[in-house]
Amino acid sequence: MTRVVVVGDLMTDAVARARYALARASDTPAIVTMHGGGSGANVASWLAVEGAEVAFIGRRGADITGRNRDMELMGYGVDARLVMDPERPTGTCVVLVTHKGERTMLSDPGANAALSPEDLPRDLFAPGTHLHLSGYTLINEGSRDAGLAALDMARRANMSISVDCASSAPLERTGAEPFLEWTSDARLLFANTDQAKVLTGRDDAEAAAKVLTAWFPQVVIKMAGEGALWYSNGRPDSVHVAAEPVDKIVDGTGAGDAFSAGFLPAWLAGKPPAEALSSGCRLAAKAIMHLGARPPF
Ligand SMILES: Nc1ncnc2c1ncn2[C@@H]1O[C@H](COP(=O)(O)OP(=O)(O)OP(=O)(O)O)[C@@H](O)[C@H]1O
Ligand SMILES: [Mg+2]
Repeated sequence: MTRVVVVGDLMTDAVARARYALARASDTPAIVTMHGGGSGANVASWLAVEGAEVAFIGRRGADITGRNRDMELMGYGVDARLVMDPERPTGTCVVLVTHKGERTMLSDPGANAALSPEDLPRDLFAPGTHLHLSGYTLINEGSRDAGLAALDMARRANMSISVDCASSAPLERTGAEPFLEWTSDARLLFANTDQAKVLTGRDDAEAAAKVLTAWFPQVVIKMAGEGALWYSNGRPDSVHVAAEPVDKIVDGTGAGDAFSAGFLPAWLAGKPPAEALSSGCRLAAKAIMHLGARPPF
């Protein structure tokens, strides 16, 4: 199985699930739980429990949460290469889930914002391995050079590359053009429908995928309850796979990350796209049916 190197963000998610409609500027009873998070670290964790050989490169604070996050990654079997920031705290995201299930995230990247090219262990960039880069690393200005350096090192080492588009609002602030330019060496792009729209101006996932293959040989669009599609340039049609049915949506956080971790091993093994998409949807459904963005221990 191809070794995967994930470069990206490591966070603690403080998930607050409101019991009633939010009483703004007042108090709302909630269930509040803490979880490991960060898109990059989530993908690495799901890959590890799927049996992939995976390393994660990121930055943590010199604090107790940073130590917990580090041990947690090791517990999943991830080769965690975390650099300790002497000043900045481990990144934290407040995930506010309304009583109707709508999610709003307030994220403080903390140490993630200082990930630098020197933090990338040279030994991990080797031929025959795969780089998966979390888009947050490029979108956040502080870590952008590290993201660009990772792409450059992977290209020089002849590694295959996939990039995830992170999140639509910050992606829009960054701008489609720079993002597409930075990531043009990726063989595969993961986007959800909102991110695909930011990058192409197209609402329709299939149309957006076709536009995106001007930059990337292969594109995967995640369409939440509608499943996901894969498109490759030069093909007449996309391949679509329906979402796996879920009994109850417990927490949608990290569904997209789990999807990537389900998709990648099958894709790297040269399986047909429909099989890789199904594998992504299967892991995403698993993520949705439990609390937090990481696999259950
Ligand atoms: N309501 C749902 N029912 C079944 N599967 C779902 C549902 N929502 C999401 N999924 C699964 O999760 C995958 C990823 O979800 P989505 O398309 O929202 O990506 P994302 O926006 O990157 O993820 P996230 O919302 O976690 O950030 C989908 O492709 C689908 O397989
Ligand atoms: Mg989504």
